Formats: sequence, structure tokens, C-alpha cells
Amino acid sequence: HGGIPVVEVRGGIPVVDVSHAPSSTPTLRTMDLLRQHGPALFQRQHGRDTLFVGSLELASELADEQRFCKAVGPALVNVREFAHDGLFTAYNDEPNWAKAHDILMPAFALGSMRTYHPVMLRVARRLIDAWDRRCAAGEAVDVPGDMTRMTLDTIGLAGFGYDFGSFARTEPHPFVDPLVRCLYWSMTKLSRDPAADHSRTDEAFRADAAFLAEVVDEVIAARTAPGAPAPENDDLLGLMLNATHPADGTALDLENIRNQVITFLIAGHETTSGTLSFALYNLVKHPTALRLVQREVDELWGGQADPEPDFEDIGRLRYTRQVLNETLRLYPPAPAFSRQARQDTVLGGIALRAGQSATVVTPMLHRDPVWGDNPELFDPARFTPEAEAARSPHAFKPFGTGERACIGRQFALHEATMLLALLVHRYRLIDHAGYRMNLKQALTIKPDGFTLALAPRTPAD
Ligand code: HEM
Repeated sequence: HGGIPVVEVRGGIPVVDVSHAPSSTPTLRTMDLLRQHGPALFQRQHGRDTLFVGSLELASELADEQRFCKAVGPALVNVREFAHDGLFTAYNDEPNWAKAHDILMPAFALGSMRTYHPVMLRVARRLIDAWDRRCAAGEAVDVPGDMTRMTLDTIGLAGFGYDFGSFARTEPHPFVDPLVRCLYWSMTKLSRDPAADHSRTDEAFRADAAFLAEVVDEVIAARTAPGAPAPENDDLLGLMLNATHPADGTALDLENIRNQVITFLIAGHETTSGTLSFALYNLVKHPTALRLVQREVDELWGGQADPEPDFEDIGRLRYTRQVLNETLRLYPPAPAFSRQARQDTVLGGIALRAGQSATVVTPMLHRDPVWGDNPELFDPARFTPEAEAARSPHAFKPFGTGERACIGRQFALHEATMLLALLVHRYRLIDHAGYRMNLKQALTIKPDGFTLALAPRTPAD
């Protein structure tokens, strides 16, 4: 990305024009530009300027909820085309945001993970069965593909009592490819040449979005159709169908429930599956960290061939959790979030008018000098309680910030910690192809083409 020129300097901040340098991994491009030009820059794309920032100092200011709030930036405006006023893409002042947030919050508190735990374990076992078969056949496994199978089945079953049955299929569930295409459309629409004709791309997008809506209707109908079991309040869909808002006693309307289901399917599985794939990558490339995870799981489950983790075990997997945090630092799967000024203000010397926004490039924030001299180094010791207490809370933001931060954080971490621990306990993970990181981006990032060979672990491993 060296050939992208600074076209002007505005209030001390460089403006770079990327209109003629489209990229399939725009986050990597913006990271390069921030490395070259400093902690803030305007990126111009066909006449529209976006302010990107990548330092702790600026991200800390943006985390101030008195001065800033979430911005539904241009990428999310595109996602709104298929998620509408679901939690993730709702505007701050849309009444359905607060209503759905208040109704759903209790379902995402740490204690609620106790309810989801058995389902998460059941789906983890599906993955293990599939991997056992591969292992016995001497075949490699497609890591991101299988992680996506696992996280989709988990959110389907734990959230909505719906079984996507991804491990019973040779191809991904038909929901997955259209979803990824819709996200990719949302991303690439940003860099479109306005002079070109995009009608065919848009038509294909509309067909994909309609298909997603159909799947979602099927998920809801499985619970609401005559003869379906009476919905209980113990999962997300049950809550949405039954619960009323504590303040005014009204329930969510069906249209909004649809938008929430699609939102949870989008937000709830691509990111968690990316996290798990990156974590496995980090472990095979860092044998010392792998040994420490092995030691932790062996202490917990010893020589058991098929451990039965209980809810409390997951909280005891401290080092495994550190590995996941360090993975989210280096490879935050949702690699940016946007904030807008509540009033006219100055952000680190940059004058912003009310409503103007800035996008935090999370992987750059996660490489700020606060992380030391070698921020590229994978080192889970950065997440010991002592190290965390000594660092600004704004240095690590893989789940966004403030009131609009990720509602599914505990859900994702519980699911990912359990699966990673079970895999490390059971298999020798073999980097048979000497994988070199190749990021693929469809808004979220993933390691493309990452495969592993497996062998059963023996006491000597
Ligand atoms: C919001 C990341 C897993 C549901 C967000 C945001 C980020 C994020 C960065 C804030 C976006 C913004 O400010 O514009 C992640 C990561 C995950 C993950 C890295 C996995 C490791 C999940 C899961 C669910 C979920 C499992 C649901 C089960 C949501 C929802 C929002 C959100 C509904 C919008 C919240 C609101 O604005 O009220 N997530 N997420 N996420 N996430 Fe997650």
C-alpha cells in the first residue's frame, strides 16, 4: 500500500485517497496507512472522508460516553439493509434498541451461561466426533470451516432451539455462504466506483438477504407454529416472544424479533469462529503457550478420555482464557468500531462537529506502545490479572466500548474457552502445511485456508 499518496493535510491530519486502490482486506490497508502516517488519518473514498484512529490516547477519549456514542458508520448502514433495527445496527435513539437491550441483557449475564453450557458442550462434542473421524482417517481438518459449523449450531440451539445440523452436512449450512456474501457486499459497497453499474451485484445481494430472512422465518416458525411446543423463557427467542419491557409492559414486535434473530446469527457466529481459528493458529505456532494450556487442562481433566466439563470448570481455565484474550488482541475478528461526537468537540487536536465520527482500528489500538516494544509477539502473559490491572482499560477493545459494546461477550468467551480446552486436551495439533497467515475479510477477519492435521494425544505429548 506504499503507493497511496497524501492528497492534503487537514488540521494537521493527513488525508489519503484510496479510491483507486480497492482492497479485499481494507483493514490491513488502513493499518498500513496508520503505520506510515501516524495515529489518525482521513481516508478518502470517492469523495467521502472517514477518520480512522489507532492509538490508546485517541481511543481513550472516544470511550468517554459523555462526549461520544456509537456511530452506525457507513459499513453498518449497509448491514442495516439486512439486519434493520436489530441491536447491532440500531441507531442509539431508536426506541427498539433500548427495549430489546433491556429485555435481552439478563439473558447475557455471566450467570445465564449456566443455562447455555449443556448445549455448548453438546455442540462441542459434535465437532469432536467429526474430528475423531478425520483423525482416524488421517485427514486434515478445515479449521475456520469447522469452527463456523460449531458456532452456528451453538447460537442456533442455545439461542433459538433450532438445529442447523452443520456437522451432518458435507457442505456448510446454506445459511453461511449467503450471510458471508451479504457481509462482503456491505464492505465492498464502501469502495465502489460511483460511475460503474452495480445493479447485478445489488440484485444478487437482495436475493441473498431475502434467503436469510426466509431461514430466520423458519427458525421463528419452528417455535410459534400451531403445534410447536409452548415457548419458554429460557433462551433468547423465548425471551423475545414472551417477555415484556419492565418499564412499559410492551413486548417486541414480530418484525423486530426477526431482525434480532438475524442479528444474533450474524454477530454470534462469524466472530467467535474467527477467534477460535486464530487461537488454534497461535497455539500451533507457539509451543510454549500450547504446553501451558495442556498443563492447565490436564490438571483439570487428568487422564479422562471424555471429560465432562461443568460450568465452573470454564472459569478455572485461566490460562486458556489468557490465550483467547491475546488472540483477540492480535486478531480482533471485528476489527473496527465507530464513535460519534455528541456535541462539537476536539479529539486530540482534531475539531469534530456534533455527529461527526471516528473509527477505531482495533488491531492498531492493540499494537499501541502501551503493549511494549514488541507488540507483534504473541504473549498470553500480557493478560495475567496483574498485567491487566496495570494497564488502561481502553487498551483492549475487541468487543467495542460503552453501552453499545458486545452483548454476547460472555457467551462467546464461554463457548470458545470450553472448545479450545477440549481440543487441546484431546489432540496433538499438527501444523502439517506450515500455514502462513492469510487474512480473509468480509467485514470480520478470518485465517483463510487454515488446515491442521490431528493425532490423538498420548501421555508423552
Ligand atoms: C456488538 C465483537 C460475539 C452479539 C459487538 C461489537 C463488537 C463485537 C466489536 C460492537 C460493535 C460497534 O460498536 O459497532 C464481538 C466479538 C465476538 C462477538 C469479537 C466474539 C469473539 C458475539 C456473540 C453475540 C454477539 C456470541 C450473540 C450471541 C452482539 C450484539 C451486538 C454486538 C447483539 C450489538 C450490541 C448493541 O449495540 O446493543 N460485538 N462479538 N456478539 N455483538 Fe458481538
